Amino acid sequence: MARIAVIAGDGIGTEVIAEARKVIDAVAPGFEYTEYDLGAARYHRTGEVLPDSVLGELEGHDAILLGAVGDPSVPPGVLERGLLLKLRFVFDQYVNLRPSRLWPGTTSPLAGVKPGEIDLVVVREGTEGLYAGAGGVLHRDTPAEVATEESLNTRHGAERAIRDAFARAAKRPRRKVTLVHKTNVLTHAGGLWARAFAAVAAEHPDVETEYQHVDAAAMFLVTNPQRYDVVVTDNLFGDILTDIAAAVTGGIGLAASGSINPTREKPSIFEPVHGSAPDIAGKGVADPVAAILSGALLLEHLGNGEAANRVTEAVAAELASRTPGATPRTAEVGDRLASNA
Ligand code: NAD
Ligand code: IPM
Ligand code: MN
Repeated sequence: MARIAVIAGDGIGTEVIAEARKVIDAVAPGFEYTEYDLGAARYHRTGEVLPDSVLGELEGHDAILLGAVGDPSVPPGVLERGLLLKLRFVFDQYVNLRPSRLWPGTTSPLAGVKPGEIDLVVVREGTEGLYAGAGGVLHRDTPAEVATEESLNTRHGAERAIRDAFARAAKRPRRKVTLVHKTNVLTHAGGLWARAFAAVAAEHPDVETEYQHVDAAAMFLVTNPQRYDVVVTDNLFGDILTDIAAAVTGGIGLAASGSINPTREKPSIFEPVHGSAPDIAGKGVADPVAAILSGALLLEHLGNGEAANRVTEAVAAELASRTPGATPRTAEVGDRLASNA
């Protein structure tokens, strides 16, 4: 039986993960869950962010289900870098997979876009780029203060993410991959990405390709998101673009993701795109659909496509029956999906 580590985390993380657990349990009973109380509370209590012993234990699991980490009471970056990004890096989760579709019943803020018309997936490189943490601060707290934040890009790292994007596109009806970067300005890293993209594209003559600068892609995601099938991009561009993709497909409360190590040598993390949402935490109004759909990605990753489909279909029915503008109640949505899936 699969062993799942659960890091519910902070804020609405705990609320949405409780619902994701309910739904996964309903469609795939018998998983063995271990809960890890990592996040702001543990940090305040013990000063610990991610003890080595816990890192070792997490590695022994088949997958990790994560809510969100980060809290206004903790300096920015302590938990985000020390916990979430550390896991993504140490477990070499180089495919940060972020699907976005406009579900029937969901209204896009974009006029004239009909359900079904947006169905894209972003393959965000997950282990490199500006997230690498390279750089530093000199002359801190003086008028001469200088900070550098370097983007780390390897041919190996870009190519494996691009390869994954092409493999996905080859299995989708439209068979198209868009590379998004900023090759007109970031000539060093952009050149590396463009060369890696051209090399992999040559192996896939059946897949259509296009390139866009990230500023144009941000615009097209709002003016014409229908044009995208698979988008491959670097870590920071992917972070930003996937919040936009979520916003145009019904909101961040519906956006699922997987931080995936496709080799399966190390566990992957399944987590909503959204954060801990301190502004609505504790109110029982966070939409658990993003976490529940992340659970479906987890099930698929573990080879249980049938259970994943049951979750996805139940979510489709749930969204189709929602009253536009009404605030979902977290536990009610979870209960409904657990009994309908
Ligand atoms: P956020 O995603 O937490 O919130 C942005 C806005 O979206 C808020 O108004 C929030 O109420 C709303 N929102 C988010 N999820 C929702 C849901 N399920 N249902 C309804 N509304 C929802 O982003 P933020 O405010 O920039 O970040 C808050 C904290 O979360 C920060 O500490 C940040 O670092 C952290 N964060 C963590 C993760 C993660 O752990 N994966 C992801 C993003 C942000
Ligand atoms: C996300 C989040 C994280 C990221 C933060 C919390 C480190 O915004 O998962 O999108 O930037 O990747
Ligand atoms: Mn983000």
